[in-house]
Formats: sequence, structure tokens, C-alpha cells
Amino acid sequence: MTTIDQEKPARAADDAEGTESSESAESSEEIRTKAADDLFDKDDLPSPPGATGRLLRSLLHAGRGRVALGVVLLLLQQVAVQAGPLLVAYAIDRGVPAFREENYGPLIAVAVGYLICSAAAGGLQYAFLMVSARLNQDVLLDLRGRIFRHAQALSVDFHERYTSGRLISRSTTDVESLRELLSEGLQELIGVVLSFVSISAMLLWLDLGLGGVAVASFVPLYLLIRMYRRRVGVVFGARSTAVAAVIVKFAETLNGIRPVRAFRREKANDEAFAALNRRHELTNGDSLLEMARYVVCSRLVANTAVAGIVLWGAYRVASDTLALGVLAAAVLYLRRLYDPIDRLGMFLNSYQSAAASLEKVAGLLAQTPTVPEPASPQALPANDSEHPGRKVEFDGVRFAYRTGGEVLPRFDLSLAAGETVAVVGSTGAGKSTLAKLLARFYDPTEGRVLLDGTDLRSLAVPELRRGVVMVTQEAFLFSGTVAENIAIGRPEATREDIERAAKAIGAHDFITSLPDGYDTDVRKRGGRISAGQRQLVAFARALLADPAVLILDEATSSLDIPGERAVQHAMHTVLKGRTAVVIAHRLSTVEVADRVLVMERGRVVEDGTPAELIGGEGRFADLHRAWRDSLV
Ligand SMILES: Nc1ncnc2c1ncn2[C@@H]1O[C@H](COP(=O)(O)OP(=O)(O)OP(=O)(O)O)[C@@H](O)[C@H]1O
Ligand SMILES: [Mg+2]
Repeated sequence: MTTIDQEKPARAADDAEGTESSESAESSEEIRTKAADDLFDKDDLPSPPGATGRLLRSLLHAGRGRVALGVVLLLLQQVAVQAGPLLVAYAIDRGVPAFREENYGPLIAVAVGYLICSAAAGGLQYAFLMVSARLNQDVLLDLRGRIFRHAQALSVDFHERYTSGRLISRSTTDVESLRELLSEGLQELIGVVLSFVSISAMLLWLDLGLGGVAVASFVPLYLLIRMYRRRVGVVFGARSTAVAAVIVKFAETLNGIRPVRAFRREKANDEAFAALNRRHELTNGDSLLEMARYVVCSRLVANTAVAGIVLWGAYRVASDTLALGVLAAAVLYLRRLYDPIDRLGMFLNSYQSAAASLEKVAGLLAQTPTVPEPASPQALPANDSEHPGRKVEFDGVRFAYRTGGEVLPRFDLSLAAGETVAVVGSTGAGKSTLAKLLARFYDPTEGRVLLDGTDLRSLAVPELRRGVVMVTQEAFLFSGTVAENIAIGRPEATREDIERAAKAIGAHDFITSLPDGYDTDVRKRGGRISAGQRQLVAFARALLADPAVLILDEATSSLDIPGERAVQHAMHTVLKGRTAVVIAHRLSTVEVADRVLVMERGRVVEDGTPAELIGGEGRFADLHRAWRDSLV
């Protein structure tokens, strides 16, 4: 433990210097790299140059009136605060001699003036805090809203890379560090800069020589601050990544609590989490260490300067070239001059921490959806409600996921309006990929997917939503009631519409047997209802949406045989007139289809009516025979 902590500074310093060190402590080094698990660092999104500054400016833009008011209030407050020592000097050099001659006026004036200044400083501080608090709240609300809206707008492939834990950390810890900067840091900075300027001016005005020494001490202080800033920047970047890693691990583990239990992963998770926590602690330690060094060095510089000035000033008072009151005021001012330097360190801390966070947020906000909304959206021609189906075409489509090889090598396919097509094929053949392209979760790398002759890429979002609906195996339910979950398909639907959809799909009976019927809260992730029941709800949701093209990707995989039968029965009504793509491993589902496609490695290898394919000699015939045999 001690070895780790003692070795840390060497590493931190090396990081800051940008050199590699071989003598760093093994143990802490191991923790850093192992815990990082190359998961987080390397694909943190790069933010384009200047993006962080632009983001901060745009956040402050709406509150620029408040920013200006805040600066004015701080300026006035500085005037009130800095008047103090001047009044003391006046009291010593004028008030006391006058007092000896029984003239009390000057001293009373000083006392009253001091009181007024103190009161004004307090009042102005209060006003400033009120203004800045409002400003902070607005900025943070704005930023959090932006992160949420942007993350939601980004495409599926983004979310596959960027875990929800990282998004949570962006909108919590990173927003929080900006809050710290705005609420404490900025005030510090403005206060420190203003008092530096005003005190230096005051000292130079009081006595050019003494003031000159004080101003000269700024040079080493400046160098010190610059060095500190650079070092602490590195440390805070690492710290913010470490915090995110902790949150990601936390979210991931608890999201997957069932497999964690099933595979008794608790101990392994505990260890991994402890390592991440330790890494966070180490980076925290780094930042404290940098801070401590900075404070020690800056005090050394400050105290040396004060000692020099006092000695020289005392010598000059003794030789009658300096008034005692002026020296007293100068010393008071000097204390005030150097006191804020510690606080400047605090500011730099919160600044660097916020900068690291803002950079990450800016990187996130700079992401553009890979499936963008069309610039000039097109509408589809209206079709009658009896035949809602639309024609689907894959025209020279090639597709590869961002990570991995080509899944669809070259794909041409045409589905007639109202046709029900079953897609079968082995695991990993590309069936779901086909479905996701049709639902426009992704855009093809090459070629086009057309709905009634219109490229999905140029289709207006509401058109696409009404046009294509996909029901998957996962059947995700949002928190809320069963009825609300079904109504997601068509928010304006009445209770009758909802019940009709549920009845059509065979979900009505199970829903009415729930404690509150349609008003039963499904709670977190539908934990209360079974997987098959969830699929039925998702089915009803899709039916209510009344899409032109309905895609069912293993949508009945969790149902029992009677349940699936019931759904199949319902399918005749549900799919009637629609274009439907039914992906299924269970061949019983295929019976509703007008046409069957067999896919292998991203290609359609067989295409025909079920009867044709069953009668033939191909793969589907084999599959079908095997399935038949298994039933007997
Ligand atoms: N999000 C993804 N990122 C990268 N590769 C993916 C992604 N999703 C699927 N793949 C790859 O694409 C290929 C086709 O996957 P797809 O999900 O389309 O198969 P499938 O036919 O639906 O299989 P299954 O019957 O198991 O559902 C697989 O090799 C898979 O590894
Ligand atoms: Mg699949």
C-alpha cells in the first residue's frame, strides 16, 4: 500500500512529462492497465479541436446577461474588500496623530467607512451567489438535456460501441464537475484575478519599490501554476476515465444480474470492481499529491517574497524613507495577495476536472448519427386501409457492421406488397441483419433499400415509423402499465383499440388475469410478466401500430406451443394485406408464409413457395423433413 502510494508521484510526473518510465511501481501499474482492460481509454470519443471551448461558450450564451452581471458584482465586491487595508493605513498615518490632538473625526470616519465596506462586500457576495446559482442551474439543465437528446438521436451502432454506463457517467459525474467549476471555480478565478490586479495596483501606488518586489514574485508563481496545470490535466483525464469505468462496471453487472447469479460470477466481479475502484483511488491520490506539492511550492515563493518585503520595508521605516502605516497596509495587502494562490490551485483543479469532463461530453456531442434524418424528407403515396402493405426492394445492397467483415455480400431481393415471406437459415446467416436494414437501424454500406420505390434514407421519420415495425425476440417493456406499453405502437389509441389489438393476438386473457388487468405496472423491464407474455405485449404493440411492413424476428420464440399456435392463428388476420417478413427457427411459423427464403452466409440460396421448396431437394426440404420427423 505504502509502496504504491510512494511510487505514484513518479508515474504521475512521467505522464505529465509525456515520457515512459520503467521504474514505476509494478503493482499500481498493473492495477491501472488491468482495470482499464483496454475497454475505455482507447475508444473514448475524440473531441474535435476547439469543441470543448465552443461547447462551454454555447452553454453560457443563453445566460450571458447573468455572466456580465456576475462579473460586475464581483468587481464592486473587490473594490469594497480592497478598501480595508487602505483605511487601516489612513487610520495609522492620519487618524492616530489627529486623535492625539483630540480630533476624533478621521478615526470615526475610518471606522464608519470600514463598516460600510464590510457590509457592502457581504451584500455584493450574496447577490453574486444568487446570480451564479441561477446561471449554473440553467447551464446544467441545458447540458444534461443535450446529452440525453443527442444520445437518443444517435444510431444503433453508436450504442453498440458506447455503453450505457458511459452515457450515465457523462450525464452525472461529468456534468457534476462542470457544476463545481461554475459554482466555485469561476468565482475563485475571477476573484483571484481581480484581487491580483487591484492589489498590485494598490501596492505600486502605495510604494513603487515594495510593489515592484511583489509583482516580480508573480514570475515564479506563474511558472509554477503553468506546470501544475499541465500535470493536473493529465491526472484528471485519467481520473475521469477511471470514474466512468467504475460506473460502467456497476451498470453492466447489475443489468446482467441474472447471468451473474446463474454463473456465480459474484467473486470475479467483486475482484474486477475492486480493481477499478482501486484505479479510481490511485488517480484521486495522484491529484491530491499534485495539489499538495503545488501548495507547498507556492507558499514557499509567497513567504519568501513577504519576508523580503518586510525586511526591506522595516529597514526603510527605520531610516525614515517609508511611513509605518504604508508598511502595515503593504503587509496586509501582501497577505491578501498570496492567500488566494492556494485557492487558485483549487480553481485549477476544478478547471482541469471540468475540462476533462467537458472534452468527453464534447466528444459525445460531436458524434453524428450514422443513420441521419433526411435533409428533404419524402412522403409515401397513400394506400387504402384494406391493403396497407407496400413493396420492399433490396437493390444491390452490401452491408458490413462497423466491427467485423461483410455480412451481406451483395443482396438483391424484391417482396411484393402484401406478401408474407418467411426467412430461415442457420445461425449467423444474416437474417436479423436483413431485418435491421429493412427497419433502418443501419444504412447499407452500398446499394439501397426501397419501400414502394422510395429509398429508406430519404423517407420522413414518421413515414418510416408507420411504414416498418419490427418485433424482436427481446420484447422490451418500458416502465408503466401494460396498456401504456401496448399504446407505444400508436400513442393516440383508445382503450378499445388497445384491447382489440390484445385480443387479436391472444394476449387479452393473460392481461385480464393480472392483478390490475391492463393497468398493471410491468415494473422494471417487465420483471413481473413472463418472457412469452412480454412477446405477446410486444406483438399487440406492433399490431396497434398498423404498419405497412411488419418484421417478426424470432418474435414467437418464447411462446409455448399453444401460445404459438394462437399467435399463428391470429397471424392470418394480423398479416392480412401487410407485407411481412417472418424470421423463425421453428418451421411451424413458416406455414403462414406465401414464400420462403433460405439464407446462407448473407445470400439467399433458396426462394419459392413452401410447397415448392418442401417438394424439392434443397436445404429447406431437408430441414422440413427433419422437423417433421422430430414431431412424430
Ligand atoms: N451488431 C453487430 N456488430 C457486428 N457484427 C454483428 C452484429 N450483429 C450481427 N453481427 C454479425 O453478423 C452476422 C449475421 O448476424 P445476424 O444477427 O444477422 O444472424 P442471424 O441470421 O439473425 O442469426 P440468428 O439465427 O442466430 O439470429 C453474424 O456473423 C454476426 O456475428
Ligand atoms: Mg437473428
